[in-house]
Amino acid sequence: MGRSINLEGKVALVTGASSGLGKRFAQVLSQAGAKVVLASRRTERLKELRAEIEASGGAAHVVSLDVTDYQSIKAAVAHAETEAGTIDILVNNSGVSTTQKLTEVTPADFEYVFDTNTRGAFFVAQEVAKRMIMRGNNAQKPSYRIINIASMAGLRVLPQIGLYSMSKAAVVHMTKAMALEWGKHGINVNAICPGYIDTEINHHHWSTEQGQKLVSMLPRHRVGKPDDLDGLLLLLAADESQFINGSIIAADDGFGLA
Ligand SMILES: NC(=O)c1ccc[n+]([C@@H]2O[C@H](COP(=O)([O-])OP(=O)(O)OC[C@H]3O[C@@H](n4cnc5c(N)ncnc54)[C@H](OP(=O)(O)O)[C@@H]3O)[C@@H](O)[C@H]2O)c1
Repeated sequence: MGRSINLEGKVALVTGASSGLGKRFAQVLSQAGAKVVLASRRTERLKELRAEIEASGGAAHVVSLDVTDYQSIKAAVAHAETEAGTIDILVNNSGVSTTQKLTEVTPADFEYVFDTNTRGAFFVAQEVAKRMIMRGNNAQKPSYRIINIASMAGLRVLPQIGLYSMSKAAVVHMTKAMALEWGKHGINVNAICPGYIDTEINHHHWSTEQGQKLVSMLPRHRVGKPDDLDGLLLLLAADESQFINGSIIAADDGFGLA
């Protein structure tokens, strides 16, 4: 007899669901039975995804969210819970990157990357966790999940994306701090550190000479696809991962070993 992860009855908020990993995460959580809330700025794209999920028999809601705007975060989380019910799972995925030497980083670059990847991720998790903690205090056995999407660049510095690496290193430490403080409330906080996955954030790079050279240096000479993270995401979202808290898990095809 087979065994699979069942997320029926759960509500999952996925930030940055309009493309790449976030879109795939929402599809996978929906396939496992969760009701998903799709959040980002490009709501037209989210509506297309909602239609796709509904056509496959799933339930999805759309909320507008700009993670660089604190009021937008508060409004989006409130809207999500009004539309879909209380949130059990947060996939904290919105992110941006820039490419340049550290000597070329401007204050505007710094704010762009950190306001989205670090400050944004922090306040989305905080807003969701505050609500989980309030509910968890009245629940018998609360089982909540926050999955921060960091990066292997948060574990080792990479040339040209030093600023991005710094912002993701903060997400790695943020994950541990949240797990330490919120674990007692039934909230498990873990991070996925993906390796190179072909999405809009880097697609332009793979056809360049530099991109090709990078691929040739990867342990298995390949870039991943968003569905390469399906299994790990489902595990961290499921009740079955109740003993995993504060873990930083690389899913990088062995890149971190080289
Ligand atoms: N692809 C990789 O190789 C890789 C590797 C390691 C880690 N990651 C991380 O994985 C996450 C997803 O990236 P991806 O590869 O899927 O890139 P992507 O296709 O460019 O997706 C980025 C997502 O972030 C959202 N976003 C950006 N700024 C936002 C803001 N201010 N407010 C709300 N949402 C915002 C975008 O939505 P809107 O534009 O609609 O707002 C979009 O849905 C990021 O955190 C990234 O750092 C990616």
